[in-house]
Amino acid sequence: MSRRKAARNDAAPAAAQRSELAIRPVRRGDLEAVIAIDTQVTGLEKREYWRSVYRRYGESATTASAQFLVAEAAGEVVGFIIGEVRDWEFGAPPCGWVFAIDVRPDARLAGTGTRLLESICASFRRAGVRKVRTMLASDNTLILSFFRSQGMMAGRFIPLEMDLEG
Ligand SMILES: CC(C)(COP(=O)(O)OP(=O)(O)OC[C@H]1O[C@@H](n2cnc3c(N)ncnc32)[C@H](O)[C@@H]1OP(=O)(O)O)[C@@H](O)C(=O)NCCC(=O)NCCS
Repeated sequence: MSRRKAARNDAAPAAAQRSELAIRPVRRGDLEAVIAIDTQVTGLEKREYWRSVYRRYGESATTASAQFLVAEAAGEVVGFIIGEVRDWEFGAPPCGWVFAIDVRPDARLAGTGTRLLESICASFRRAGVRKVRTMLASDNTLILSFFRSQGMMAGRFIPLEMDLEG
């Protein structure tokens, strides 16, 4: 954790907000709230997608290192994070991979995203990995600001893509 972040976490109001927040593994009953947050954030309802993510990363996850965590405040799911340990991709040692994070717009800027990332990183450390990676759209300045604030920087891999026609 950065010194700036540690200083922020020492502040009394932030500490109070953090103490009311629980980070825990997702349950089946959370799925509707997860879908609602994603729909609100992206403008697209992807019900089938989220069901399949739940099957893969939720309670009956087939990968031991799969992590699907939710943030709960006052009995409501206000955010989630999903990731897993990926083994030796591109010849690099296993690393933690975060592929989704969302905090409900009305619950932002209260440390929830930070707590979610801290929790998944703790589980990655317990799984024995020492690096975490993610990927984001280059024009998504919000998520870029968030990950930068957590100490994440451009890594040595770059994304490549092409359209598949026909
Ligand atoms: C990015 C996101 C997860 C941050 O959640 P959050 O709970 O608001 O984050 P935190 O309160 O822990 O903020 C931590 C730091 O992130 C940065 N940050 C967060 N929101 C920011 C904003 N709107 N502008 C600039 N920096 C911001 C700040 O540095 C902040 O620290 P500070 O409060 O000390 O300034 C949340 O805004 C979100 O869900 N955005 C949409 C994400 C998305 O596009 N998901 C789809 C792709 S997976």
